[in-house]
Amino acid sequence: MSELNLILLGPPGSGKGTQGERLRNDFDLPYYATGDILRAAVRDATDLGKRAKGYMDSGDLVPDEVIIGIIVERVEDSEAADGFILDGFPRTTGQAEALDAELAGLKRAVTITLLIEVSDEEVERRLGGRRTCVKDGHVFHVEFDPPKNEGVCDVCGARLEIRDDDKPEVIRNRLAQYHEKTEPLVAFYEDKGVLRRVNGALSPEEVGDRIRALLATIRLEEEL
Ligand code: AP5
Repeated sequence: MSELNLILLGPPGSGKGTQGERLRNDFDLPYYATGDILRAAVRDATDLGKRAKGYMDSGDLVPDEVIIGIIVERVEDSEAADGFILDGFPRTTGQAEALDAELAGLKRAVTITLLIEVSDEEVERRLGGRRTCVKDGHVFHVEFDPPKNEGVCDVCGARLEIRDDDKPEVIRNRLAQYHEKTEPLVAFYEDKGVLRRVNGALSPEEVGDRIRALLATIRLEEEL
């Protein structure tokens, strides 16, 4: 594939992070997850972290003006010249328009937006059982993707924790924010002809296989 500018879109808990990690390994492209970037900023108590924390704790989106610059500067970086994987950005029409404008300035465009579809009920089940590594951010699920040793990351051996925003009332607000502010991006990218849907209710391995098959088809189409 000449250049892969890929967006992972989907509700909270749909598996964007889980699949993003696989894609990063498959394609060796820079991976920018705004949730991870913001959580690191909160942990380090930077200005960004201080501005974002209140929004994140309640499940609201941080304002566009706080987040857009962070992604724009990464997309401009030479490490993203062959493409990138975006997880959690864009999340509003304003963010999508800003990304398009930035890419157009670089004579580039979004190659594909993968919409990982799961129901609200499934989201609540998944986020209730999620465990996240405090060190490398690797995600597990107590039932669907358990670590070999309870409470310990398989990858680096650090402790697993429950994310602050994985409380039931916060999950419900995150879902409401998704439906109101992020779901309009489905039509936005559909209109541009770059949206592909993936059934996120399958197992992580099956979802990953379908994504690989989709990307292989696009590569074949490019070569024709
Ligand atoms: P962010 O961290 O991006 O949260 P999110 O979009 O709500 O997504 P999650 O990380 O919760 O879920 P995921 O889809 O990555 O699923 P995962 O793979 O972990 O953002 C957090 C906050 O930051 C936002 O609320 C907002 O405040 C702020 N923010 C971030 N970006 C922003 C932006 N652009 N603009 C404004 N504000 C922004 O999987 C979930 C669980 O399910 C795991 O336990 C996993 O093991 C399990 N699982 C995964 N796939 C499967 C499967 N196929 N079957 C069964 N279980 C599965």
